[in-house]
Amino acid sequence: MTELIFATHNENKVREVRPLLDGNFRIMSLTELGLNDDIPEPFDTIPENAVEKARTIFELTGKNCFSEDTGLEVFSLNGEPGVKSARYAGPSHHFEANIDKLLGKLEGKTDRSARFLTVVCLILNGKRHLFEGECKGSITIARRGDKGFGYDSVFIPEGSDKTFGEMEFEEKNKFSHRRKAIDKLISFLQEEYK
Ligand code: IMP
Repeated sequence: MTELIFATHNENKVREVRPLLDGNFRIMSLTELGLNDDIPEPFDTIPENAVEKARTIFELTGKNCFSEDTGLEVFSLNGEPGVKSARYAGPSHHFEANIDKLLGKLEGKTDRSARFLTVVCLILNGKRHLFEGECKGSITIARRGDKGFGYDSVFIPEGSDKTFGEMEFEEKNKFSHRRKAIDKLISFLQEEYK
């Protein structure tokens, strides 16, 4: 079975992505490989950071790998938190503080529409390929649900009345930005390996 390294330290992402690729590809997480190096996200755009994460792990291992970078973009906040989603309230990467800041900035705003954007970067046999996934939705007034991670408890995807935080990951995967980007990755890999 073809092995692919998923260049992330976020085990929530691994849990969401692994079942999508299972059966055809063996996904190795950085934790499983004992790779604890910090992965830099130095750029101002999501695609550049996705490329940087995959490049870092490819340089370390020399193996086929993919990464992903995700941002939450809120339209009435001119796309914030966007590429700063992980460190919106400061460098501590504290989810609860990020959510508090987001809900505070949206207080009194009627337009609460938002989207998650994921860019996946695959490095296969040394060549780079990008895949994008988007999930439109809106931001709640207050947190709902304690499943998921990050901003899941305040995001309702279009087509549902639950937040991602109220969904098991199988249900989140029916809507999610990450699933859509991974579906494109899978179609590409199926062509490459047919
Ligand atoms: P990252 O840089 O791709 O790890 O993501 C930036 C931040 O966005 C993370 O710290 C999470 O707080 C948040 N995030 C990423 N993906 C999701 C998701 O699927 N749901 C909710 N929040 C997410």
